[in-house]
Amino acid sequence: MADQVATHYAGGGALANEIAQSLRKAGKDLAGLKTADLATVDEFHIRGRKATLELAEQMKLSADAQVLDIGSGLGGPARTLAETYGCTVTGIDLTEAFCEAARALSGWVGLGDHVAFQQGDATELPFADNQFDAAMTIHVAMNIAAKDKIYSHAKRVLKPGGIFIVYDVLQGEGGDVLLPVPWARESSISHLATSGEMRSLLTEAGFKILDVHDSTSESQQWFEERLASLNVSGPPPVSFQIFLGSDFPAMTRNQVQNLQERRIRTVSYTCEA
Ligand SMILES: C[S@@+](CC[C@H](N)C(=O)[O-])C[C@H]1O[C@@H](n2cnc3c(N)ncnc32)[C@H](O)[C@@H]1O
Repeated sequence: MADQVATHYAGGGALANEIAQSLRKAGKDLAGLKTADLATVDEFHIRGRKATLELAEQMKLSADAQVLDIGSGLGGPARTLAETYGCTVTGIDLTEAFCEAARALSGWVGLGDHVAFQQGDATELPFADNQFDAAMTIHVAMNIAAKDKIYSHAKRVLKPGGIFIVYDVLQGEGGDVLLPVPWARESSISHLATSGEMRSLLTEAGFKILDVHDSTSESQQWFEERLASLNVSGPPPVSFQIFLGSDFPAMTRNQVQNLQERRIRTVSYTCEA
C-alpha cells in the first residue's frame, strides 16, 4: 500500500530539475527566487499558500518553535512557516522523491537551515516523545487507512499543550469520490474519513479539539477558478502537472464536480495535545 502511494506521487523522478526548467520557462531565475514563486507547485493542497498562512495563524508560533510537518510533500507549507515565523520545521514524507526535491527547493530560497526533510511513514513517526512544540498535517490522511496511528503518534511526539493542525479532504454526503483525484488514481489508496469519524479519531488519540472550520465552499470556488483558467490557457508551466502528469486536467475537472456535489468536503481542525 505504502509503495502504491509513493508511486502515485513520485512521477518520473528528477523532480527538482523539472521544476527548475518550468520556472525558467515561466521567466523565473533560480537566483533571487522567493517562496511565493514556488507556491503553485509546492503548496500541494486545496487553496495553496493562502490556506497554509491561515492555518499557521492558529499555531501561535515563535522563532524558537520546533514544528513537525507530517506528510510534508515538496515542503511548501514547511518553508512558508519557517519564512513567516522564523521557526524550525521538520518534514516527514513517504515519497523519497518529494523529500529530495524539498531539500533542493529549500536551498534555492535560502531556507535550508530552517527546514529539514526525511523519508518516513506518518503511522510510525521516528521521533521522541514530547519533541515538538507544534505539528501540522495537510492533505495527507486521505491516503492512509490507519488514521488512528497518525493521530496517536502526533499526540505522542507533541509537548503537552502543543497545537496540532489537521487540514484534510473528508468524505462528503454526496456519494463516492470521482477518480482520478490528486491523491489517487485508484480507490485502493483513497481513504476518506467522515467528519464524525474525524472527531472520534482526534479525541480518542487524546487531543482536545479547539476549533473546526469547514472550507468546502471556498475550496469549490478555488477549484472552479483553476478549471476556468485551465480551459482557457491550459496548465500553467509551474504546476502540480509536473508530477501528476497527463491526468492533471481530469483530476481538476473531477475535483470541481466532487466539491460541487459535496462528494468531498475540506475541513480543518485546531487541536491541543
Ligand atoms: C497531497 S500531498 C500534500 C503534501 C503537503 N502536505 C502539502 O500540503 O503541500 C500528500 C502527501 O502525503 C504523503 N503521504 C501519503 N501517505 C503518507 C504516509 N503514510 N506517511 C507519510 N507521508 C505520506 C505523500 O507522499 C504526499 O507527499
